[in-house]
Amino acid sequence: MADYDVIVIGAGPGGYVCAIRCAQLGLKTAVVEGRETLGGTCLNVGCIPSKALLHATHQLHEAEHNFAKMGLKGKSPSVDWKQMQAYKQDVIDGNTKGIEFLFKKNKVDWLKGWGSIPEAGKVKVGDEVHTAKSIVVATGSEPSSLPGIEIDEKTVVTSTGALSLGKIPKSMVVIGAGVIGLEMGSVYARLGAEVTVVEYLDAITPGMDGEVARSFQKILTKQGLKFVLGAAVQAVDVKNGKATVKYQLRKDDSQATIDAETVLVATGRKPYTDGLGLEGAGVELLPRGQIKIDDHWKTSIPGIYAIGDAVVGPMLAHKAEDEGMAVAEVIAGKHGHVNYAVIPGVIYTTPEVASVGLTEEALKQEGRAYKVGKFSFMGNARAKAVFQGEGFVKLIADKETDRVLGCHIIGPGAGDLIHEICVAMEFGASAQDVALTCHAHPTFSEAVREAALACGDGAIHA
Ligand code: NAI
Repeated sequence: MADYDVIVIGAGPGGYVCAIRCAQLGLKTAVVEGRETLGGTCLNVGCIPSKALLHATHQLHEAEHNFAKMGLKGKSPSVDWKQMQAYKQDVIDGNTKGIEFLFKKNKVDWLKGWGSIPEAGKVKVGDEVHTAKSIVVATGSEPSSLPGIEIDEKTVVTSTGALSLGKIPKSMVVIGAGVIGLEMGSVYARLGAEVTVVEYLDAITPGMDGEVARSFQKILTKQGLKFVLGAAVQAVDVKNGKATVKYQLRKDDSQATIDAETVLVATGRKPYTDGLGLEGAGVELLPRGQIKIDDHWKTSIPGIYAIGDAVVGPMLAHKAEDEGMAVAEVIAGKHGHVNYAVIPGVIYTTPEVASVGLTEEALKQEGRAYKVGKFSFMGNARAKAVFQGEGFVKLIADKETDRVLGCHIIGPGAGDLIHEICVAMEFGASAQDVALTCHAHPTFSEAVREAALACGDGAIHA
């Protein structure tokens, strides 16, 4: 008799959700987690703390730029960095304790310590070996740096260090104009730092709809962020606590440097599987370090499954959660499924940026006929009332069938608005289905409906 039906390794969004679903499906479940708190990168040093800092600094921005316009006069608030950090920690604690509560409620055991897999069916935690019929590896990812850059988490930091800097720097260079770079760059720009983002490609946010990316860059530039695009960072030298970032412009190979108090390296993440003993257990890895899986999250060794950032696909908490629920169902003998074509991506800056499905660029490459319905938030009364008329909704539908293929939004509440289109896509809806759905007035979501109308006979407020 095995100790458990399932042992999940890692208590991030993939692992903890998987464990809860396993328990709900009647499987005796334990989770191995070596951190002091549950929730993984997302809750401890990722999504959640960054959202706390984005929220606090957005409030500061509102006070500095918009309060007086609304007749709210008085001195702008000053920043107490220690208190802002304490608020961030409270937000983290509330959430990590929440997972502990959910584990107790669902009778999921927390095996404290770092786990390894000596062989299929066994998980070693400290000196103890626990047995399980199924093992789910949900160990997530870690920041990946560049050669020539040494991270000290003080002057040269990853996203982890960037969440807890000793003080607000006067200047910051962000390497990489991806999600982490732009979210944390926004935080420090709003706190008064001079932020320069250096990006290898010629556009920010790789893979995103080109029009949205260009508009996003313009808006961020107005907010004070500087961009150096087409620049490959080659090294960062640190002397007396000050950094010099060396880069090469790709167009003419010329070299340049920028000095900064803090450098944030945000050039992507890599799967975290160190110390698990996967190779020893015979689990195959892909050339880029991800665990190889089949369509049912099964690794090359029967009884060992893998999900989340440790396997292929976008490194997103919600993708990991969906895989966690689906693999639990597979283990319980049900039919777990993830629709990888409908996974939204969100950047939580102001304005927010959100997208789901195909971009125009991808459709052009595929040679597919499509139509675009666009609507600017300038035509949305609610957005204008809260000084967020910049941005737009872009809905893409099949030219022949009108079926919704994708949506790209930059504007207020984009991260919530996108889900209307996720549901529409799950149900195979047409743009007309969205257009014929009554949307409450005045809401930001009317802009989504207007974009859908623009795919047909035309938007009303354009
Ligand atoms: P990313 O992959 O989004 O962006 C990295 C950027 O660095 C790319 O634009 C790349 O071209 C650039 N780069 C690479 N090497 C460079 C060099 N030598 N010089 C200049 N630029 C260089 O990676 P990021 O932002 O670190 O995020 C990691 C992961 O975490 C992503 O998969 C992201 O989706 C996820 N994440 C998601 C969040 C969200 O959903 N809101 C928030 C934070 C992270």
